[in-house]
Amino acid sequence: MNDGALIEAAERWGTPLYVTDLDVASANARAWADLLPGALVAYAIKANPDPALLRRLADDGMGFEAVGSVELALALRARCPAERVVVNGVGGTDADLADALATGALVNAESLGALDALLRGGPGRIGLRLNPGLDAETHPHLATGSSEAKFGISLDELPDAVGRVERAGRTLTSIGAHIGSAIDDPEPFGRLASIIAGLAAEIGVERIDLGGGFAGAPAAWASAVLQRVPDTTRLIVEPGRSIVRDAGWLLTRVVRVQSRGHLIADAGMTELLRPMLYGARHPVTVLTQGAPLPENGRGWTLSGPICEAGDVLARDLDAVSGEGALLAIGEAGAYGAAMASSYNGRLRPAQVVLEGGELRLSRRRETLEDLIGRDA
Ligand code: LLP
Repeated sequence: MNDGALIEAAERWGTPLYVTDLDVASANARAWADLLPGALVAYAIKANPDPALLRRLADDGMGFEAVGSVELALALRARCPAERVVVNGVGGTDADLADALATGALVNAESLGALDALLRGGPGRIGLRLNPGLDAETHPHLATGSSEAKFGISLDELPDAVGRVERAGRTLTSIGAHIGSAIDDPEPFGRLASIIAGLAAEIGVERIDLGGGFAGAPAAWASAVLQRVPDTTRLIVEPGRSIVRDAGWLLTRVVRVQSRGHLIADAGMTELLRPMLYGARHPVTVLTQGAPLPENGRGWTLSGPICEAGDVLARDLDAVSGEGALLAIGEAGAYGAAMASSYNGRLRPAQVVLEGGELRLSRRRETLEDLIGRDA
């Protein structure tokens, strides 16, 4: 992204502001699709449900991974055909599952109870999300494939699950797993591919869903996986972060400078929770200078305005600037706007997209009326 477009966006729509470059996200998604001909590339909506982004990816021919009925509705609203939507979710009620099946989406059962509900729920495409008991190195909050995690049907429950499907006279469309998020090493995905492909051969299932979670370049993932599953038409993948992380920025201004080394920004944990929740590090760039900062001899902490001591966006900054400075926080396209909250009476920021060099508003800033609009 050129700095000029970010500066213009901040001037037009104010800060804090999220900006997403749709052409970057589209190219990232295309990289997955080109490496995996015939596969279903189902972008994980939870990473960033910006409506203009969803519309662009759907128009590009991508599918969507949706958790629950609301994300399923967002996928369909973006005009993605239901045949390209995969629905996950460990907490789907009987009604959620039946409604999802009726749309024509592929719906994954994450437990034996959910499988029974799907089999009762009417015709439609059913998959199994398995718990492969596979520990990939990542933050403990993000390791979803370990045998302790709440996700998926255990491998020792699989024969029972297959028996239930057969007794109901149905077939499974796919089996798969999602082993976690922010995983830098492609090797666990190779192991996962072996496990799932082996089980699919045993029980006679065509499609293999290897979930999302890889944080590196898609080519590295493909070289780990394709030696195990050479027929890419069998694959379903659910990448989120790798499509949108580097396509998004959070723009914020320094409002105050506190002695003791804190810059107080107009964005904080309510706009970007990742540093506080996972210790994540996001790059900070000065777009326009503010007032000069005194020498403090130890670097600056970029803090937010929220009443919590952990409300920090970045630490140990030296090349920063004081009151009025406009900053861009990078790699904020995934799980930034998506995890924003109205804690401390914060109104959620506007979302702007850049497409073909043009900036446009995708979602306006929240207002007090939005916030109190649900009061009975
Ligand atoms: N499929 C399923 C079933 C998932 O649960 C997820 C993410 C994905 C795909 C996409 O994973 P990705 O490619 O984006 O890693 N809030 C955390 C990330 C949580 C991810 C949850 N599930 C963060 O800010 O890092």
